[in-house]
Amino acid sequence: MDVNALRSKVSRLEQELEVARDELQQATDPEAVSAELKLTRAYAFDAASEGAVEKCSESIRNLGFCVIDNVIPQEEVAAIRDEAIAARSKVDRNLEAVKDLHSETGLEGAALLEEANARGVELRPVRRVGHPPKIPCEIIWMPSYARYLAHPVVTAVARRVLDDHMRIAQLHIRVLEDRPSRGEPIQSGSETFHLRKWHTDWPHDLSAYGRSDPSLNVGCIRQPFPDVTMCLVMIWNLTDVDETSAGTWVVPGSHRDKRNPRGPNDGVIVSAPIPGDMQIEASAGSVYIQDSRCWHAAAAHNNSGRQRVVVVNRWCPWWVSVDDFAPGVNYNVNQVCRPLSHSEYLDLPADLQPLLRHVCPDEHDTLQQSVLARSQAAGDRDDYGYRQVEEDADSVAEANAHIRVPTGQLSD
Ligand SMILES: [Fe+2]
Repeated sequence: MDVNALRSKVSRLEQELEVARDELQQATDPEAVSAELKLTRAYAFDAASEGAVEKCSESIRNLGFCVIDNVIPQEEVAAIRDEAIAARSKVDRNLEAVKDLHSETGLEGAALLEEANARGVELRPVRRVGHPPKIPCEIIWMPSYARYLAHPVVTAVARRVLDDHMRIAQLHIRVLEDRPSRGEPIQSGSETFHLRKWHTDWPHDLSAYGRSDPSLNVGCIRQPFPDVTMCLVMIWNLTDVDETSAGTWVVPGSHRDKRNPRGPNDGVIVSAPIPGDMQIEASAGSVYIQDSRCWHAAAAHNNSGRQRVVVVNRWCPWWVSVDDFAPGVNYNVNQVCRPLSHSEYLDLPADLQPLLRHVCPDEHDTLQQSVLARSQAAGDRDDYGYRQVEEDADSVAEANAHIRVPTGQLSD
């Protein structure tokens, strides 16, 4: 067959494929898919089960999320929950103290840092020179939780999806009260529904925390998002969650939809239900992991009679710019890359240190061994090519003859 006939064939098959995909999409009932998921919890895998790492990463790829059950042992969960609640209070008190100090003295930057140190208020310098100090990474108040944060199954899943060298760019504790005021059901025509707050997370958060304020905008990837996972959001459940206890809302498969709930031209209403949306069901001690592109919302309603307690982290590969922008002074909102002093860094469990080294300004943040090994292999291969010229010059001219870059579809 000649090249033009083959090009026509490829073009026809591509159109057919597109039509078939559209038909499949129309024929699939998203509500049936999520009903099945809710029934089977096919997105959840026990940390100790065989193949958990592969199954979790596959679930993230297909659905946009997974749950790893039993990451924190059941007998430890209550103590870690209490630790997180106490830590939340410490963070809040410290935040108030920083804000009071700032408004009382009018000091900024290094002067504020010095005064905070003198008064026992926790404030730390950041790695980026010239940027204002921040309150410390909340992990310093959770030493028991820190022992699980780099759990081998969790890190293996993240490494498989992201890259070998990863960074935890954000870590914060959330305590959602029982029966929050905005959790009342909303009457709409003949229906009632619970409020959604659909969004995607940094670096796919379109409003980028700061909207048009350059001092607070942390950046957002341009739409349409490339089909690459650039951040994993991890929600460590320290209480049981389901439909009545503020389980996270999610739209399965939305991580690959080119639209976005906050997209100015995408026709999605952030507060309204979406066909096929569902709430995650998971026990205390589990970790919910989602691609940051996944459409999701924290549940506004919690009718369980108890608080919902979680620790949220954002993990990214080394190549995502985690802390280059938003230089403004906003001690409350800016949770990105909260720093550690050198001693706090050295006190972390050894397996956690590589994930948080970048927030300790006293440590050189070099690329990790696994990434270096890749570069070494590439360099060795480069050397090999030049050695061939010296050792077997006669064959070099034809050595790449079998390499055919696919040019068949380029226009001529
Ligand atoms: Fe979110």
